[in-house]
Amino acid sequence: MSKDKYTVCAALPYANGPLHLGHVAGVYLPSDIFTRFLRMNDHDVAFICGSDEHGAAITLRAKSEGTTPRAIVDKYNKIIGDAFKDFDISFDIFHRTSSKIHQETAQDFFKVLNEKAHFTKDTSEQYYDEEYDQFLADRYITGDCPNCKHANAYGDQCENCGSALSPTELINPKSTLSGKMPVMRTTSHWYLPMERHENWLKEWIKKGTLDGVPHHDASKWRNQVTGQCMSWIDNGLRPRAMTRDLDWGVKVPIEGGDGKVLYVWLDAPIGYISATKQWALDNNKDWKDYWTGDRKLIHFIGKDNIVFHAIIFPILLKAHEGLILPDNVPAYEFLNLEGDKFSTSRNWAVWLHEYIEAYPDKIDELKYVLTSIAPETKDSEFTWKEYQTRINSELANILGNFVNRALVLTQKYYDGSVPALGELTDSDKDVIAQMEAIPVNISKLVYDYKLREAQAEAMKLARLGNEYLAETEPWKMVKDPANTERVATIMNIALQITANLSIVLQPFLPATATKLSEFLDFQTSDWSQAGNSSLISEGHMTNKPSILFPKIEDEMVELEIEKLEATKTMETTFEPQKDETSFDEFTKMDIRLGTILEAEKVKKADKLLKLLVDTGLDKRTIISGIAKHYSPEELIGKQVTVLMNLPPRTIRGVESQGMILMAENENGELSFVASEKEFGAGSGIN
Ligand code: 2FM
Ligand code: ZN
Repeated sequence: MSKDKYTVCAALPYANGPLHLGHVAGVYLPSDIFTRFLRMNDHDVAFICGSDEHGAAITLRAKSEGTTPRAIVDKYNKIIGDAFKDFDISFDIFHRTSSKIHQETAQDFFKVLNEKAHFTKDTSEQYYDEEYDQFLADRYITGDCPNCKHANAYGDQCENCGSALSPTELINPKSTLSGKMPVMRTTSHWYLPMERHENWLKEWIKKGTLDGVPHHDASKWRNQVTGQCMSWIDNGLRPRAMTRDLDWGVKVPIEGGDGKVLYVWLDAPIGYISATKQWALDNNKDWKDYWTGDRKLIHFIGKDNIVFHAIIFPILLKAHEGLILPDNVPAYEFLNLEGDKFSTSRNWAVWLHEYIEAYPDKIDELKYVLTSIAPETKDSEFTWKEYQTRINSELANILGNFVNRALVLTQKYYDGSVPALGELTDSDKDVIAQMEAIPVNISKLVYDYKLREAQAEAMKLARLGNEYLAETEPWKMVKDPANTERVATIMNIALQITANLSIVLQPFLPATATKLSEFLDFQTSDWSQAGNSSLISEGHMTNKPSILFPKIEDEMVELEIEKLEATKTMETTFEPQKDETSFDEFTKMDIRLGTILEAEKVKKADKLLKLLVDTGLDKRTIISGIAKHYSPEELIGKQVTVLMNLPPRTIRGVESQGMILMAENENGELSFVASEKEFGAGSGIN
């Protein structure tokens, strides 16, 4: 029977920030394990990813960093791509949606759908920010979620409950750019009339048949995926705009498309196809082999991406004709961190690239922990304490201990040579039967996308070996020459278990599996060999082992927890960060250095001082509430920072023409925000 062929796609991360452990646990690590397993089982497979470089996620980040979208995507594509490499995620390609081949692929796709009349063109009223002269879709608009009432849901999606939204559904909508209530303006867009697809979608998702023909095994879809899709469909599918009035993105390639780009959720999934095209070009393959015919398309994603991959993209693929539809969409719930949600803005995160930099020798340790706690069916949590416990009491005490004993005793008793297998006891036979059964169990679990259990099953083999040695105690038996044959048999079996571990651990802990292979001087990536109880023959020479998993010390855990605590302390000691502003807003403020020329108390106001400040431009009067902190005399000649263009205000009968900027600490003490060097009054601050 020929093997199933696979195209495995991992959600394209937005190139607007680095990856944290939540991303890794819920998309990239499981897809990597799955793909490594498929390769070992000789499936023809392509593993595709890249960065998602369009959409408001990028342009808003560029605005907040005061730079261009191009600079943002270049920066984060590199940070993310490097982290994937260092973490040894085995993509066949990590591509980008700002590439030429992607622009062309997405534009062609759009044209095909348009020619086949799968879009409608419609003119309607959309939210518009008058101050910024821009229509507001997706992340450009926020408001309360109509479903879960979470504040700050986006115009296309609520990140709290995962529901897909459109801007008009938001309660109390507000522009992300100006923070103001938007107005309505007319614009034209191409729409995907999703309601036309309701019937086949229902059948396809619930039964796994496509227009009556068996397509996939619907029982293998996770409940939360089927549930979220069905509730979306049951609420009634509506036309969804496939274009946007923006300048960053894939330009709409047909007449009337000037000034418009493709909707990012149309453009991004086509990124899987364009990445495959690039990979095929680089490797002398035909991309169509990976997107047509008899092949399983698998999407590993987070739960907030479900409807885009299990409803919208399938509609587009089917409408295009000739392309395969997803066979499964294994979506992950969210991983939390030490009792709280991962949050980029609050820096409540363990960043992958920072972990790799700090602990380059503990890659497999992190993989093991993340797979053990992967949020497969419900949200789960990463804590540094659990990280330590799992590594010390599972990886080190069970796997590491067993492998070390097996190899060290082989060195000691047989100078590294594999001893002969003698007569088997019932318990030997039982151990061998389990050694044969475990790889079969792992296979079933992996094909069912139960990777957390699959890893636990692989660890069962290490547990089995560890218990076998603990029970048989060859180090005691060896003392009596009458046991020579028995000890050899035990050690042979222990070495066969170790060789089996070097196979079954490969998808989960590739670096560890390689080390085992080196210790044993035995290597195979052929999964069908797993379960074989005579992988290495009598007389084969093994090498001296080294420690696989050094213990995680309390200091490391304490340091990591302290780092996170510091984030929390900053949050409670200091005001939380204010809502995002824009560079444009910032540059509207005229801030300069000034020198205080005169200072006097304001009558009947014990907090106020009247200052005469040389601003370079002029000498102006400013009333400042600092009398309790400074005497007038000590202020003369001081250099201070002045906000110049506040509207004048009359305070106690005196007109104040600006504001002196002060820093205030948690005790309410004040300090001037002044220059480090003696600078001329009037120097601008920007
Ligand atoms: O949610 C996200 O991070 C999106 N950038 C995922 C896109 S997946 C695909 F469609 F490209
Ligand atoms: Zn919600």
